[in-house]
This record gives sequence, C-alpha cells and structure tokens, in this order.
Amino acid sequence: MLSWDGFESPLQSAKTAQKPPQTQNASTATTVADSKQAETFKPPVTPKTSATSKSFATIMAKVDHMDCGEGEAEIEMLGNKNRVTVEEKRMINCRADLNQLVPFKYDWAWQKYLDGCANHWMPQEVNMSADVKLWKSENGLTTAERLIVMRSLGYFSTADSLVANNLVLGVYRLITNPECRQYLLRQAFEEAIHTHSYQYCIETLGMDESEIFNMYHEIPSIAKKAQWSIAHTHAIADPLFKTGTPESDKTFLKNLIAYYAVTEGIFFYCGFTQILSLGRRNKMTGVAEQFQYILRDESAHLNAGIDMINQIKLENPHLWDQSMQQEARELILEGLYIEILYARDSMPQGMLGMNANIMEEYLKFIANRRLAQLGLAEEFKGATNPFPWMSEIMDLRKEKNFFETRVIEYQTGGALQW
Ligand SMILES: [Fe+2]
Ligand SMILES: [Fe+2]
Repeated sequence: MLSWDGFESPLQSAKTAQKPPQTQNASTATTVADSKQAETFKPPVTPKTSATSKSFATIMAKVDHMDCGEGEAEIEMLGNKNRVTVEEKRMINCRADLNQLVPFKYDWAWQKYLDGCANHWMPQEVNMSADVKLWKSENGLTTAERLIVMRSLGYFSTADSLVANNLVLGVYRLITNPECRQYLLRQAFEEAIHTHSYQYCIETLGMDESEIFNMYHEIPSIAKKAQWSIAHTHAIADPLFKTGTPESDKTFLKNLIAYYAVTEGIFFYCGFTQILSLGRRNKMTGVAEQFQYILRDESAHLNAGIDMINQIKLENPHLWDQSMQQEARELILEGLYIEILYARDSMPQGMLGMNANIMEEYLKFIANRRLAQLGLAEEFKGATNPFPWMSEIMDLRKEKNFFETRVIEYQTGGALQW
C-alpha cells in the first residue's frame, strides 16, 4: 500500500536545509548542540533560477508585452464580447461578464446593500454594565432566565459562522449577478459583526467560552439545528459543485431556502424573542440591544434571500415544479419542528408571558409566513402572532433606540497605534 509516512518532498528538503538556527528564547536554555549548530551553520548557496534573477528591465518588458486578449477571450468564451446589457443578467448560470456592477437589473439588491451600509453598527457601542451586574448577582435572574441566556448565546455564537461559511464558500460563487454579490459581501460582513457581538456578550459577562462555543455539538437541541444547516452547506460547498443542470440548480435552490428561509428565517426566532422579551422587562438590556440590532439585520437578510429565491424561480420556472415545491415545504416544516424542540429544551419552565406552547404558536405563525413568502400555501390555519412587538422591533431604525442605552462613541483613527 502506498504511504506518505516518512516522505519528504523536495520543497521540504530545501526548507529543512535552509532552516536557520533557532533564536534563543528567554524560557529555553541553549544546549551545547544548539550552539555548535549555530557556529557551524552556513546558509546553502541558492541556485540562480529565472524567478530570482529577473531584473526590473525584464519585468518591465513582460508588462509592456502583456497579452490583454486572454481576459477578452474568456469573456468571449462565455458567449458575449459586447458590453453587458440588463437583459443578459441572471441570478444563476449567467453568461454575461460578472466583473461589471452596472447596468443594474436588480435594483432591490443594490438598495439593500445601501440600506445595510446606512444601518452600520458595532457591538462595542452597546453599554453592557447593567448586564454584567445582573448576570453576576445571585438573585438577578431566575433559573429559567439564566438557561435562556446560556442557550441563546450557545446557539448564536456558532450559528452566524455557519451562515457566513455557507455564504462565502457556496452562495457567493453560485449567484452570478454582480449587484446581488455586492449585497452578499455586505451580508457577509454583517455576519462577522454578529459573531463578534455574541463573542462580546460572552466575554463581557465572563461566561465559560469553551462551554458556550461547544454547545453546537454538545447540547442536543442546538446540535440538531446546527447539523441541519451544515448538511445543506455540504451539498454546495464542494469546489467542483456547479449549477447548470436542473438537478444541481434545485440543490442550490434548496440551500438558499434552508439558509435564508429556515436558518435565518426560523432558527433565529425563538432565541431572539426570548432575549428581547427579557429586555422589555429591563433585564439583560445590553444583550437585548445587541440582539435587537442583529434581528434588524437578519430580517434584511431574510428578505434579500426570499427575493433571490423568487427571482430564480421567475427566471427558471422549470425548477419550481411540484416536487421542488413539496421539498421546499418539507424544508420549512422540518426547520419548524427543530425550532419547536429547541423552544421546549430552552424553556422547560417558561418565564413571564412566555412558555414553550406560546412559542410553538408563534413559530407556526412564522412558518406560515415563510411558506407564503415562497408562494406556497400556509400549513397552520389560523395561527396567530402572540408577540406583535417583535414586528415593531424588526422595523426599528438604529437611531430610535428601543432601550436608550446606546453609547455613542466610535473608535476613531486617533485610537490607532503605529
Ligand atoms: Fe447574522
Ligand atoms: Fe444573517
């Protein structure tokens, strides 16, 4: 059997041969062998290769004679050598030049990018001092409330990384429209801010980081949510995965539904509602304010995702057949049930104005909304929204601060150290 054990590539050999003597570290005493090696070490003579011997004149000549036709040929290979027109642009499998942002076809995508930038925020803006005091006081929170905070930070601390990975490793490559990609870049940065925000809360409250960050595979109700999402990333993250056949296009469409409509559209809602409910009762107001900003971003992500999915359906009606509609419905219902299980696990006792049954009603209301947004019939007739205040928070502009605890102090260039 072939084995790589003991194999040393020529590159490794060269590196080993060229390895300079180790610099003496304050914590480690230099051995006799080390000093002997230092005395006898002679750097090997580097053979002159074309890569190291190129003069600036040669480099200038190379640039002067650069063949710009290669890039043109690539665009021509796609079937287009003319300037990009709006009609050529498509959400997936586009053959027009993807390096040109304009002319815009999907104005909504550009507008969503601008809105995202206009709503920029950073976790350090939020005053967390009341939270620290409450979290550390013995009788500040009930056992049920503490469990909710722990579970929420446990799920979300990893969830936004999962979304970001799916976005960057899969969705960005497969959405073939520059203005949507522009929005995806903004979304990716927002996901980084969200992960930062959760880390900021965990660190500020002095929680056991290892415990919290490992909940996504150690706490069953959280693991189920995370694993469900990760499985959908696996389907498209392979660099060899390509859209272009009805089967692969449907796989991609399922990924978008699994992430935008379920992960960001259902899995976030139990935790958001629980934490924001605490904030409304003047508890953990800093964490709640962070969640409030995140929720507003997430509802924008959800809407952008639904727009992308519906646009793909519009441009590729053959994909949205009976079986695909059935699969989309099943994805929503699977996600709903997983979130109901999470609600039961995170609220075994319930807290003021909220318990697992009321949350189940709310989640069914949310699932109906997701089905309707995808053009599918509602599943739960008459499901109502027990938390109408959630809708108000989602639409809240940053300036109209719900809890009025925001610290308006940005780090400026003056804070940089050179
Ligand atoms: Fe996020
Ligand atoms: Fe998001």
